[in-house]
Amino acid sequence: MAITVVTGGSRGLGFETARALKALGHEVLLVARDPARLHEAATQLGCEYRAVDLQDLDATKATFEEILATYGAPELLIIAHGVMSEKMSKTLRTTLDEWRRVMAINLDSVFLAVNILGAAMAEARSGRIIIYSACLGRMSGPGNAGGLAPYRISKAGVNALVRNLAHETNHGTRGLLVDAICPNHTRTDMGGPDAALSVEEGADTAIWLATRPFDPTVDKTGFLWEERQIIEW
Ligand SMILES: NC(=O)c1ccc[n+]([C@@H]2O[C@H](COP(=O)([O-])OP(=O)(O)OC[C@H]3O[C@@H](n4cnc5c(N)ncnc54)[C@H](OP(=O)(O)O)[C@@H]3O)[C@@H](O)[C@H]2O)c1
Repeated sequence: MAITVVTGGSRGLGFETARALKALGHEVLLVARDPARLHEAATQLGCEYRAVDLQDLDATKATFEEILATYGAPELLIIAHGVMSEKMSKTLRTTLDEWRRVMAINLDSVFLAVNILGAAMAEARSGRIIIYSACLGRMSGPGNAGGLAPYRISKAGVNALVRNLAHETNHGTRGLLVDAICPNHTRTDMGGPDAALSVEEGADTAIWLATRPFDPTVDKTGFLWEERQIIEW
């Protein structure tokens, strides 16, 4: 059985997505940084894991290559890792180190996952790539409206990557689906305890995209989704 790779699978939205997909019978492999937390999460789900700091792009590339060599093309690639940028990270106040940290984790490592695992999925003409983006990365609504520059711009980059790749792979007609989601403010370590949504609610759209029936002549892929609906980029 082809595996389901979930980055950021050790906690928060990634863990909840992995938990739900495992319960539906998927063979899940978790990727995150902290080995102890990953071990605990993987033991809880009864699945495999790989620990890697996704800011280290050489190690990230080697990890995704090893996963591909070991398991073959995944059926699902759920990209749910991410970091928030520091509070004082307006464009004119942030530092190059902070910019590079957030871009490496939130965008460069996403590119590597898609470039290595997604390429094999495209070759297999089968698979779904679902990426946790953020409404803060939109070019409309609450997005790119100032502040948290590395975070917002990294997520705008993720949105552009998804749209561009969807065009390159002809919007699902060749068997590869690729979509971005805005989970909305969810109670995780990143979202904080006062966020409006539970992890079950925040992960719902990703799980739905992973499991929905898809007919390329009727259904849509290559978009930004919120609460199972397409929203403007
Ligand atoms: N929560 C929200 O309100 C919200 C809203 C909009 C968008 N999002 C997006 O949804 C996604 C999931 O967010 P979340 O709230 O679940 O975040 P979270 O609870 O903070 O979890 C983040 C996950 O990313 C992993 N991670 C972070 N830095 C890493 C690194 N350098 N290398 C490897 N793994 C790393 C963490 O692994 P470790 O445990 O090993 O650190 C953890 O599994 C993110 O992309 C976020 O931007 C969240």
